[in-house]
This record gives sequence, structure tokens and C-alpha cells, in this order.
Amino acid sequence: MFLLISVVLTLWLSCAHGQGRTCDFPEIKHGSIYNENRYKKSFPADVGKYFYYTCEHSFVTPSQSLWTRINCTEEGWSPTPKCLRQCFFPWVENGQSTSSGQTHREGDVVHIVCNAGYSPPNGQSSIACGESGWSSPPECRRVYPQGRCGPPPPIDNGDTVSLPLPQYPPESAVEYKCQAYYVLQGDKHIVCRNGEWSEPPKCLGACVISEEMMQQHNIQLKWRQDRKLYTRTDDNIEFTCKYGYRPTTPNHTFRTTCHEGKVVYPHCE
Ligand SMILES: *[C@@H]1O[C@H](CO)[C@@H](O)[C@H](O)[C@H]1NC(C)=O
Ligand SMILES: *[C@@H]1O[C@H](CO)[C@@H](O)[C@H](O)[C@H]1NC(C)=O
Repeated sequence: MFLLISVVLTLWLSCAHGQGRTCDFPEIKHGSIYNENRYKKSFPADVGKYFYYTCEHSFVTPSQSLWTRINCTEEGWSPTPKCLRQCFFPWVENGQSTSSGQTHREGDVVHIVCNAGYSPPNGQSSIACGESGWSSPPECRRVYPQGRCGPPPPIDNGDTVSLPLPQYPPESAVEYKCQAYYVLQGDKHIVCRNGEWSEPPKCLGACVISEEMMQQHNIQLKWRQDRKLYTRTDDNIEFTCKYGYRPTTPNHTFRTTCHEGKVVYPHCE
């Protein structure tokens, strides 16, 4: 009798064990699980375990709640964790859309009707909300005759080198430059083709966090595992001492910001 129970039990156990699949760490694009650094070690997770995840800024979970529960089941994570882009549709000048003032989600398609003499960029009257935002800007732009272009588009923290004209003939080029402490990204020239300017450059307010300075001060970045050493003006930067070193500057110096191209580093010995 005992033997029988024991055999049944063993069978049941091995059976349960054999089936007992686990769930791998959920790699969530644009999202993370609650307290990820702490719980990452506990993967793979057993069936029955559950976690909460959230999405980064401008993304939402399908349920739209800040924290969404995912259960580890025999079929894997349920529901499958996902972060969907949100795209805001503004009020369109010189045109109309039923979506004006609404927030859309990844996958949505929106129509714009422009007034006479105006056209959406590239003549596309439908634009889609995708992972990186609207497929083209939700705008109605003035149409100039014979492939001419209007004034070059303004950019943040930068300007054109020459004074803008009201109209430019096809194949004209215009050059941009950035304000002090901003770094130009992209092509500094734009060209007028088929009545549209090519993509203007961006001016990024940047501090370079130098590997050399971090060595000198015996510190490292607290959060960033990636080696991105550019940071924008007023972004918070957090440092910690390298392993085996102790802080010799006050705690608040370990949380600093990039200001006009400069970072003040804390120090450890
Ligand atoms: C997760 O499991 C709990 C407990 O069994 C259940 O109440 C909940 O509905 C499940 N959630 C999902 C999304 O499957
Ligand atoms: C600085 O941080 C350490 C460790 O987090 C803590 O023990 C200490 O009390 C803090 N000192 C001050 C002045 O806040």
C-alpha cells in the first residue's frame, strides 16, 4: 500500500515537474517590470508567479493602467506584455481632422483634409501612429508654385545661417547652426526638392560625461548600463563610487545635472 502511494506520488511529482515550464524574463520594448534590477535575478519564473510592468513615457500598456499584472502560465506570460506608443494629434492650422486634440495609440490611422493652397507633407492625407510617433507630421503646409519652397522650418536651439527668404527655387540649399552648448545632429544643409525641404538637423544640448573624468574621480554612472555618455541639459545624472571606493564629497554631489555643457563630478577615494 505504502509502495503504491509512493509510486503514485512520485509519478505525479515527476509529471508535474515535467510539465512545469517556466517563464523567461519578459523583455518588454519601451517598458520594464516593477523593481526590475531586484527581480531580474529570480528568472526564469515558475508557473503561478506574477509580476507588474509599466511603460516608459509616451507609451501605454494595452489596459492603459500604470502597472499591469502579468501571470506566468503554461502558455507563457498572460497577457503578453506590450507597450504601445501614444501619439497626440494637435489642432491643424489651415486644415481639419476629426482627430484634432485627441490622443491616439500605435496602429491608429488618421485623415487630414487641408484647405485650398495647402497640403499635408508628401501629399499623404492619412498618417499612422507608429512606434516612433506619427508617420509624417500632422500638418497642412502651404503649397508653393513650380516646386518652390517656403521659408526654411525653424528648429529648437538653432537657426539658419542666412536670413530666411519668403520663397526658394528648387534645389536651393540653406545652412543651419546651433546655439552655444548645443551639438548639431544630422545634415547641416537642407535642400528644396519638389516643393519640400529635406529633414533639418537637430540641436542637442549635450554634456559629454567623460570616461577619463570618471576614472579620475573613481566614479561610475549609477543607472546606465549602456555606454551612452551624452546627456542633455538639465537631465539628471547619478553617479556612484566604483567598487571598493568611498565618497569624499557630500551625497548631493552624486546627483547632478548637465548645465551649459558642463558636469560637476563627485569624488571617491
Ligand atoms: C492572474 O492570476 C490571477 C490569480 O489567479 C487572476 O485573478 C488574474 O485574473 C490573472 N490575470 C491575468 C491577466 O491573467
Ligand atoms: C550619505 O549616504 C550614505 C549612504 O547612503 C548614508 O549612510 C549617509 O547618512 C548619507 N549622509 C548624508 C549627510 O546624508
